[in-house]
Amino acid sequence: MTEPSFLTAVRKSYDTVAADYVERVPPPAEMDPLSRAMLAGFAEMVRTAGPGEVADLGCGPGRITAHLAGLGVPAFGVDLSPRMVELARNAYPDLRFTEGSMTALDTGDDELGGILAWYSTHHTPPRWLPEVFAEFHRTLAPGGFLLWGDYVGDEHLRPTRRYGRPVSYESYFLPVDHMVGLLDEAGLVVTARLEQEPGGRVSRPHACLLAHKPDRP
Ligand SMILES: C[S@@+](CC[C@H](N)C(=O)[O-])C[C@H]1O[C@@H](n2cnc3c(N)ncnc32)[C@H](O)[C@@H]1O
Repeated sequence: MTEPSFLTAVRKSYDTVAADYVERVPPPAEMDPLSRAMLAGFAEMVRTAGPGEVADLGCGPGRITAHLAGLGVPAFGVDLSPRMVELARNAYPDLRFTEGSMTALDTGDDELGGILAWYSTHHTPPRWLPEVFAEFHRTLAPGGFLLWGDYVGDEHLRPTRRYGRPVSYESYFLPVDHMVGLLDEAGLVVTARLEQEPGGRVSRPHACLLAHKPDRP
């Protein structure tokens, strides 16, 4: 089957910018404190719930995957960009990183204790998001948690350069209520949300949503 063109553009763009991304994007230790707190809360909830692994989907160079592992969570990373996966494997040889797309995961049903989608869904055209969130629901174990974090708003950007290099991906920033609605339609129950306005280490409006897949009745 032919790959949707947005996936090809995202893969090519992140292959191009991967090394510059690592240089320019601050590591987790320099992230804004509230986002770090959401990651810590997510890690604690996953650890408390049971032994399942967390998939960091759109893991990029693997720094957040490693941050979660440092918080005691068995975590692995998946990314569309082979270059990002290569950087992640080199930086964190003890962790598992694979190439793949969150639109069709190579993971069985009900397997994961948690999913982290951290600034990795905003290149997905909105009409594809129901498919992505259906994959999250399919692969999460009942009771498993999702932490989603990303830019929000009402904008469609077509940048030509990012991180000092040419890119061809597009970015879609959607209202947080819309994202909550999509997760709800996918059968994921949102129980906490954090919204931040620009300022300090926060460059654009962003939000974190914590959700879970309900236990079977
Ligand atoms: C802005 S970076 C964020 C990386 C990482 N989560 C972090 O916070 O450092 C977005 C990443 O998501 C990946 N990505 C975007 N769409 C994806 C998809 N459909 N499946 C897997 N990875 C994807 C890109 O290749 C890129 O590495």
